[in-house]
Amino acid sequence: MFNALPLYIVLSVASYVRGQSCWRDTTCSGPLDTAFPGPWQSNIYSPESRVASPVSILSLANASVISSWPGSAPLQGNASALVFDFGKEVGGIATVNYTASGAGALGLAFTEAKNWIGLWSDSSNGKFEYGDGAIYSNFSQAGDYTYTMDLPRLRGGFRYLTLFLITNDTVTNLNITAISLEIGFQPTWSNLQAYQGYFDSNDEELNKIWYSGAYTLQTNAVPVDTGRWIPALASGWANNGTLGPGDTIIVDGAKRDRAVWPGDMGVAVPSTFVSIGDLTSVKNALQVMYDNQNADGSFPEAGPPLLQQGSDTYHMWTMIGTYNYLLFTNDTAFLEQNWNGYLRAMEYVYGKVQPSGLLNVTGIRDWARWQQGFNNSEANMILYHTLLTGADLAIWEGDTTGLSSLYTSRAANLSTAINEYCWDGSYGSFKDNATATTLHPQDANSMAILFGVVPPSSSIPSRAQSISQRLTRNWTPIGAVAPELPNNISPFISSFEIQAHLTIGQTQRALDLIRRCWGWYLNNPNGTQSTVIEGYLANGSFAYRNSRGYDYDASYISHAHGWSSGPTSALTNYILGLMVTGRAGSTWSLKPQFGDLTSVRGGFTTGLGKFEASWNVTGGGRGYELWWNTPAGTEGTVVLPAIHGTRQGRVELDGRIVKGKTVGTQGYMFAVAGGNHTVVVS
Ligand SMILES: *[C@@H]1O[C@H](CO)[C@@H](O)[C@H](O)[C@H]1NC(C)=O
Ligand SMILES: *[C@@H]1O[C@H](CO)[C@@H](O)[C@H](O)[C@H]1NC(C)=O
Ligand SMILES: *[C@@H]1O[C@H](CO)[C@@H](O)[C@H](O)[C@H]1NC(C)=O
Ligand SMILES: *[C@@H]1O[C@H](CO)[C@@H](O)[C@H](O)[C@H]1NC(C)=O
Ligand SMILES: *[C@@H]1O[C@H](CO)[C@@H](O)[C@H](O)[C@H]1NC(C)=O
Ligand SMILES: *[C@@H]1O[C@H](CO)[C@@H](O)[C@H](O)[C@H]1NC(C)=O
Ligand SMILES: *[C@@H]1O[C@H](CO)[C@@H](O)[C@H](O)[C@H]1NC(C)=O
Ligand SMILES: *[C@@H]1O[C@H](CO)[C@@H](O)[C@H](O)[C@H]1NC(C)=O
Ligand SMILES: *[C@@H]1O[C@H](CO)[C@@H](O)[C@H](O)[C@H]1NC(C)=O
Ligand SMILES: *[C@@H]1O[C@H](CO)[C@@H](O)[C@H](O)[C@H]1NC(C)=O
Ligand SMILES: *[C@@H]1O[C@H](CO)[C@@H](O)[C@H](O)[C@H]1NC(C)=O
Ligand SMILES: *[C@@H]1O[C@H](CO)[C@@H](O)[C@H](O)[C@H]1NC(C)=O
Repeated sequence: MFNALPLYIVLSVASYVRGQSCWRDTTCSGPLDTAFPGPWQSNIYSPESRVASPVSILSLANASVISSWPGSAPLQGNASALVFDFGKEVGGIATVNYTASGAGALGLAFTEAKNWIGLWSDSSNGKFEYGDGAIYSNFSQAGDYTYTMDLPRLRGGFRYLTLFLITNDTVTNLNITAISLEIGFQPTWSNLQAYQGYFDSNDEELNKIWYSGAYTLQTNAVPVDTGRWIPALASGWANNGTLGPGDTIIVDGAKRDRAVWPGDMGVAVPSTFVSIGDLTSVKNALQVMYDNQNADGSFPEAGPPLLQQGSDTYHMWTMIGTYNYLLFTNDTAFLEQNWNGYLRAMEYVYGKVQPSGLLNVTGIRDWARWQQGFNNSEANMILYHTLLTGADLAIWEGDTTGLSSLYTSRAANLSTAINEYCWDGSYGSFKDNATATTLHPQDANSMAILFGVVPPSSSIPSRAQSISQRLTRNWTPIGAVAPELPNNISPFISSFEIQAHLTIGQTQRALDLIRRCWGWYLNNPNGTQSTVIEGYLANGSFAYRNSRGYDYDASYISHAHGWSSGPTSALTNYILGLMVTGRAGSTWSLKPQFGDLTSVRGGFTTGLGKFEASWNVTGGGRGYELWWNTPAGTEGTVVLPAIHGTRQGRVELDGRIVKGKTVGTQGYMFAVAGGNHTVVVS
């Protein structure tokens, strides 16, 4: 009795202080709190509440810090300006309070990268006008004003907000008194930091890279009526397009395109799953592709309002996305609802396979590689993965007509044909297609290992090991240049490459590429220092694919693009080593890879519960400790990694020495039921 009243007050004050809410009139359906509280939460980039503020003021002339914010922010005379730095990527609707001495207009301009701070925003509308312009709050006399951006002018992604004064004289002045930003992304979550997964290691840079991928994915989960307006506006911007069903949907980028692109989801969805845990946005994005499936069975390349057509690879990514979504959720009702569409999609794409056994690509749009069509190897690798994941889906759907074995045998035939016609034995990698071309692409070769078109052999020589070694020839100090898009570095395609190296135990190679590429961007003072970028050039400028569709408009590049978030899933699935292998984690595997790391921990959540693991290397690699905890009723495979030296390390399980089991230069694998266990190898 005595405690009842004070407790009530404490609780209500706590929720008031957090000031958390969902986007506008959206129903809250996200988790209320993180599944894994701990010190690693300090690496979360997302704001504590839905209202964010700048942290400092920069000079427009030279981008140096003038002062922290809140602080004094005077503007006087025409075109005088101050740059407000939010310290990280943000997005939404800004409200500015100011006091003016006369008549004029307050301009607002936005940019993700520091390079484009100024009186014009960076580009997003799709017309490549080298900037979107600004929006204005007009005032006709001296007084106090509050300006809130119109909803269609929502700015999906930016770090810098330039506020500037337009007047006809030199004496009119104005003081900015308050700035608040209503965050637009992750609209159904009242607590933007309620992550359902986590990662932590002894390498602080890797931790930050993991969280920058996670935060990027949050900025890409947007309210369904805030897509980019199509047809592209000639000036300004409008994010009032309808993207799909539900309240939240995953798009390609925070600033742009703000459209569903299934190709991006091959990287974005596994990373979302292990970090944020938001699969509702994924479900809605996939559903809109089925809702817009064409009469011939093909899927659009992108969701509405863009609804671009003509991509066999993106068609297959929708099918693979369906598999990934089912794997992570076991949402059988979704599969049931869309199964007929899936079957039509399979017949559509498999109908393009020629007597040679190879796919003949006729929908030639793709991720930006220069060449697509004919027997393109990347498309054939994707078809292989589509067939094998389709075989699992057929079982999960309860098909009794033999589809699973049909798809499996088609995949085997395809693999034979790819290895026969596309392999370049003299170079030791796959060619770009079945001609005598000398181009050995990053995408197809990475996928060949990752999807298992070549066996994941750790022995040298093998095709997999040869490919992994050859891929390093594309490397520069700041990342891997894609031969199929020369001069460009693609963290999207590199997301497949790092997983390829990890698949065959080339741990250090993967960590090296993660640090070169994602580390370079995260530490770049011109970038957002909180998200992952769409792409960049080998010379370190942000002008990704300037000669391949972006019309040399470097300010158009998206600095928060989920397709580049590969390290987030790779660090969890391969370095920590914890991965789901059956629906919702009904089966899983734990296979740590140490590389140069000494301690790692992490976890994620499914409908079955929490999955968590950690490991420490001891004695400089002569031993290690490994702990895991997985839900009761699940079944796992644990692979104890090899140790350094020639000894056989003894194995202790839950404090007891396991007789007859040792770990040496070979690892040791065993099956285990879900539960809480510790292994010490010494
Ligand atoms: C940057 O510009 C400000 C004025 O906006 C000036 O006070 C400052 O000295 C400049 N700093 C450098 C490093 O040029
Ligand atoms: C802005 O602030 C300065 C410094 O406090 C003050 O002198 C000036 O009158 C203010 N201007 C307006 C329009 O309030
Ligand atoms: C500035 O001058 C132009 C041209 O005379 C006029 O149209 C405009 O309204 C003036 N702006 C302000 C803020 O007084
Ligand atoms: C940042 O951008 C400025 C302006 O474009 C450029 O001069 C500078 O070299 C860039 N810095 C880095 C590290 O890229
Ligand atoms: C005020 O500055 C803007 C932006 O630089 C410019 O376009 C405009 O012509 C200027 N107006 C006057 C009256 O100088
Ligand atoms: C901005 O002005 C509005 C309207 O006067 C007011 O409700 C709000 O509290 C002000 N914001 C701040 C942060 O002072
Ligand atoms: C979206 O905004 C654009 C540009 O202002 C406008 O032309 C279009 O009609 C708007 N669409 C809707 C559905 O409001
Ligand atoms: C591939 O498909 C295209 C378009 O249908 C067709 O013109 C071409 O002959 C086909 N190529 C082969 C090798 O069958
Ligand atoms: C095969 O790939 C190379 C390299 O991308 C390309 O130049 C060539 O056009 C392709 N050949 C066909 C028939 O598609
Ligand atoms: C998946 O869901 C179906 C239908 O609800 C159920 O029968 C099946 O047992 C579930 N499978 C797993 C592995 O959870
Ligand atoms: C690893 O080391 C950390 C810090 O010493 C410790 O908390 C943890 O329990 C150790 N064991 C495992 C399996 O992570
Ligand atoms: C796991 O078991 C250890 C003892 O072996 C215990 O200290 C720990 O609390 C358990 N953790 C969980 C989450 O059950």
